Amino acid sequence: MSTVYSIIKAETPEQIQECYDVRIKVFVHEQNIPLDLEIDEYDPKCLHWLATASNEPQRRSRLPLGTIRLYHVPNTSIGKLGRLAVDQSARGLGLGRKLVEGLEKDAVNLGITFIDCHSQVDKRLFYEKLGYRVTDGDVFIEDGIEHIKMGKSLS
Ligand SMILES: CC(C)(COP(=O)(O)OP(=O)(O)OC[C@H]1O[C@@H](n2cnc3c(N)ncnc32)[C@H](O)[C@@H]1OP(=O)(O)O)[C@@H](O)C(=O)NCCC(=O)NCCS
Repeated sequence: MSTVYSIIKAETPEQIQECYDVRIKVFVHEQNIPLDLEIDEYDPKCLHWLATASNEPQRRSRLPLGTIRLYHVPNTSIGKLGRLAVDQSARGLGLGRKLVEGLEKDAVNLGITFIDCHSQVDKRLFYEKLGYRVTDGDVFIEDGIEHIKMGKSLS
């Protein structure tokens, strides 16, 4: 029996709820971000992706383990990457990278040419490994956590 990891676009209300569940576990319970800040007014306007694990060949259980969202800024070719979270039990397996790559692939198809993101200061190297560069190194506080602005050109 082997574990198969997949990235899917979250389209049903159940799949989107699974994305929120991962975020609540990671951001609210682990990083102490208040719940009312975590799920925000952008969520209904965003695309969401879900990373799951399933046991092959039975595929009886499917465990949500990661998520990311994309907000396409209206009338622009800019997309905002956000709410990237991988469950603590599944870090270091490449799911964070796969979620970002999945988002970028769909972003290109939407005509997005630049991805903006607010990186937690200690996650800078993660994003740099995926081709993101610091666009503004001034540290600012978002949801109580130190961030910097990063971005990546997709064209
Ligand atoms: C940041 C996070 C999404 C990374 O997910 P992950 O699935 O563990 O990352 P991956 O396994 O895909 O790692 C990809 C690469 O980045 C590196 N990396 C992962 N986390 C890193 C970190 N915190 N700092 C520096 N490098 C990191 C990995 O070593 C790997 O490098 P390699 O390609 O040279 O082997 C995950 O740690 C997380 O959810 N953290 C809590 C929530 C959070 O902080 N989200 C980001 C908000 S900006």
